[in-house]
Amino acid sequence: MSTPKVIDHIETYRDGPTLVIRFARPEKKNALTLAMYERLIAALGEATADKTVRAVVFGSTSDTFTSGNDLGDFMQNPPTGEASPVFRFLGALTSFEKPLIAAVDGKGVGLGLTMLLHCDLVYASDRSSLVAPFVNLGLVPEAASSLLLPRLVGHQRASEILLLGEPIDARAAHAMGLVNAVLPPAEVLPRALAVARALAERPPTALRLAKALMKDPATSTVAERMRKEGALFTERLSSAEVAEAIGAFFEKRKPDFSAF
Ligand code: COA
Repeated sequence: MSTPKVIDHIETYRDGPTLVIRFARPEKKNALTLAMYERLIAALGEATADKTVRAVVFGSTSDTFTSGNDLGDFMQNPPTGEASPVFRFLGALTSFEKPLIAAVDGKGVGLGLTMLLHCDLVYASDRSSLVAPFVNLGLVPEAASSLLLPRLVGHQRASEILLLGEPIDARAAHAMGLVNAVLPPAEVLPRALAVARALAERPPTALRLAKALMKDPATSTVAERMRKEGALFTERLSSAEVAEAIGAFFEKRKPDFSAF
């Protein structure tokens, strides 16, 4: 593990192949400021550029995941368009090609819920709860949550969350499929890191392409998707990753993708 550094209330460190990014503004329940969004964007950029980073784990340094956007910032420096830090962060999140894993402990408000819809795997402590208070604040849902949440949980359950602003606890979020596992608080980050290490052992290009396929909005019919998968599948058969995976099978050894 590398020495954690904290810049603008965002802590980052390396855990082997994983970049850990944690919200670190406990005195304000990890409310996200413009500077924090900028730092998050930069950290995701570093993770993209560095081939040795195979996954990113999001978490918090205290028992609140995040209370969402800093409401003071919202009033003083409201986002004005696509170039605003919050929207650029959401863009960086949705276009991030490597696995994103969330380790949630405590309350996740606003973006603390909606960002989970863009993570590939989510682990939450049994004391966590998630709430989307947009409508109660006179706002509308963000981060494509008005599309992704109804798709995940159905319109009526999404209405409880997005229209009524009802909090959901970790177990309900698990039952809805938003959370992969509910764990005691001390086990959440270790589980996320263990899963990140397991993903790091997978062939990275195959992983990236599989994630892209699952998130591809352009091909939405079965026939279109099968065609796209088929083309990629055929192309992959002649890749070095497949040679290593199948070679290892016949040589009865574990494949090694660490240099890929
Ligand atoms: N923006 C700015 N400041 C925030 C904040 C936010 N989103 N969330 C919490 N804070 C600040 C509080 O103002 C308080 O500051 P103070 O100590 O200077 O008074 C401090 O963080 C602690 O918050 P507090 O409300 O006392 O903690 P709590 O444990 O009772 O409640 C929350 C925690 C997260 C449930 C509650 O703070 C909350 O509902 N925050 C607003 C969440 C929100 O609406 N986010 C916007 C989503 S779009």
